[in-house]
Amino acid sequence: MRLSGKHIVLGVTGSIAAYKAAYLLRGLVKEGAEVQVVMTPSAKEFITPVTMSALSGKPVASDFFSANDGTWYSHVDMGQWADLMLIAPATAATLGKMANGVCDNLLITTYLSAKCKVMIAPAMDLDMFRHPANLRNLEILRSFGNIIIEPGEGELASGLHGKGRMEEPENIVEEVVRFFDQKKKLGNKHFLVTAGPTHEKIDPVRFIGNYSSGKMGYAIAGELADAGAKVTLVSGPVQIKTTNAGITVIPVESAKEMHEKCLEIFPETDGAVMCAAVADFTPESFSGAKIKREKDDLMIRLKPTNDIAGDLGRIKSDNQLLIGFALETNDELSNAFAKLKRKNLDLIVLNSLNDAGAGFGVDTNKITLIDKGNNLTFFELKSKTEVAADIVCAIISEMGKREELLD
Ligand code: CTP
Repeated sequence: MRLSGKHIVLGVTGSIAAYKAAYLLRGLVKEGAEVQVVMTPSAKEFITPVTMSALSGKPVASDFFSANDGTWYSHVDMGQWADLMLIAPATAATLGKMANGVCDNLLITTYLSAKCKVMIAPAMDLDMFRHPANLRNLEILRSFGNIIIEPGEGELASGLHGKGRMEEPENIVEEVVRFFDQKKKLGNKHFLVTAGPTHEKIDPVRFIGNYSSGKMGYAIAGELADAGAKVTLVSGPVQIKTTNAGITVIPVESAKEMHEKCLEIFPETDGAVMCAAVADFTPESFSGAKIKREKDDLMIRLKPTNDIAGDLGRIKSDNQLLIGFALETNDELSNAFAKLKRKNLDLIVLNSLNDAGAGFGVDTNKITLIDKGNNLTFFELKSKTEVAADIVCAIISEMGKREELLD
């Protein structure tokens, strides 16, 4: 039984595919999972709570309290109890509410309270699925770190043919098993991740910064934590937040602060992923008072910052992994090879600003991975979450090789 001891909240919404949720529930229980079913009011129009309760061996939660015996279904408790929340089928309406935090039923309040990973299996007609509103909601949910189980193509309940069918229950069970298997892979590991830009102060109201949003670093931290690692995320000033329980965020502002924190944390870790866009130069002096518009021009003298990745490369032990990024505009491969060597990295992730959809601010990225043996792996343009998953896969395989060598 591959899911023994796992706690899963199965959310069911009002789609004709709700009947498949019974097979899905059966599959999860057969693998040993303990499943708490939460149904939306309209889901109960498609399949009865009695079926789901009989299959799960637990009362179905649908309202905030049971009218029969006054049982209170705490969305917070369910959200904390779950190792995984799976919403299958998820209608367009539910996706919209999840993306916007509209908590008008127990399922959505549980979703907002969940500390665990959330998997979503959409089910709807093809035109609803491909509507920009729905695609935008799915993108928002992906950016929250939720896993979308893509619907299949085929005959739909409406009689139309296209993309929108909920993935088959047995395939969803396999996805769930894979998710928990993946989780074990970095079970006892600790990773340092840097993310975002740094702000180098000029005076009390001005700084030198860059366009980094932190999305790539936060996505990598999320994937590492989902693979079971303890993650310390040293983050420059960003707009995004993480609710992942496996991540401890240490906010910093300047390259100097980031350098100090990283040197302090790195020796306790099994590796570091250097995703931050660290300023290479900082003002030589900070003006305590706001600089006034007095002269025709203004000279600000800059001095170099410390190369954080380079310094970690110098103190790195044989069983620590160091992964860096190279964002290049020209001579991409030769620059990346040189950085890999200069900073004593084990892997470098190259992204070129010449590739449409790669780089700062956007939700996508296109990468090439280069290892110490100068082996190249090229990847397609993907969402930053998917890119993060590819990078973490490479980290897991690199850790595996290393452990074999050290055995
Ligand atoms: N990096 C770092 N500390 C710095 C500068 C960069 O830790 N002061 C890390 C980045 O997080 C990234 C890698 O080094 O993982 C490469 O960063 P990049 O800015 O591409 O390289 P630089 O060394 O700054 O070289 P250049 O700006 O000349 O391309």
